[in-house]
Amino acid sequence: MWKLFKWNSKDSYKISDELDIDNLPRHIAIIMDGNGRWAKEKNLPRTAGHRAGVETIREIVKECSKLGIKYLTLYAFSTENWKRPIEEVNALMKLLVEYLRGEFEELNSNNVIINSIGDTSKLPLVCQKELKYAYDKTKNNTGLVLNLALNYGGRDDIVNAFKKLYKDLKYGKLKEEDISEDLVSSYLYTAGMPDPDIIIRPSGEQRLSNFLLWQCAYSEFWMSNIKWPDFRKEHLHQAILDYQKRNRRFGGIK
Ligand code: IPE
Ligand code: IPE
Ligand code: MG
Repeated sequence: MWKLFKWNSKDSYKISDELDIDNLPRHIAIIMDGNGRWAKEKNLPRTAGHRAGVETIREIVKECSKLGIKYLTLYAFSTENWKRPIEEVNALMKLLVEYLRGEFEELNSNNVIINSIGDTSKLPLVCQKELKYAYDKTKNNTGLVLNLALNYGGRDDIVNAFKKLYKDLKYGKLKEEDISEDLVSSYLYTAGMPDPDIIIRPSGEQRLSNFLLWQCAYSEFWMSNIKWPDFRKEHLHQAILDYQKRNRRFGGIK
């Protein structure tokens, strides 16, 4: 057992001198990729890569919380990941439960809200139960919102929003003229949250893989060849530094 400590206690942390604390992304989203290849390089089973990836999650969640980032969304299991061998899917679900049980106290005591996005009703019941417990106990916290994207797909997010919108139109809760971009956003799993300012993808792939398709309209992308288990807080700092040098024009002129 390690000792619990408050990440944000005044003695515990000095933010990197280089980072501009007034220009931090409000919402960081990460496609946690490369666990399998990391393991393969080491002649280990893929599940060892996923286990090592959980260590990275611990470090990055803590760092985002310390930096004062408001939203961190981690792509942990996509709607397409069910295509993997059942043993791997089961191992991932088991790791999720272990993570939630193991980290709950520390996350809660550091004011983190443990939330999930995606169709979690298709996850094993034990995962649903742990997610619900974690959310119920942390939903009144005021620190980092940790969104675990589980059985998440950007297209599924939009289809699900269509269905809810259709019902509200049908039963007269909404009129056609109410439909706007903001309204559509409010029907997504990320309702009430700002769009991601930056989307990070390690592992060398240059694609979104069905992540936050509506929400990424003006996100900055940061890709790198580092595999997720090797991703450290220094890489996060580098991504934020690079983000701070970008000129976000949103279609205008600056
Ligand atoms: C990401 O690592 C974890 C999940 C998708 C759950 P991968 O398992 O996709 O690792 P690679 O891409 O095969 O290396
Ligand atoms: C994206 O990674 C999904 C997650 C990180 C959870 P994948 O490894 O599933 O993506 P592809 O198949 O390489 O596009
Ligand atoms: Mg992958």
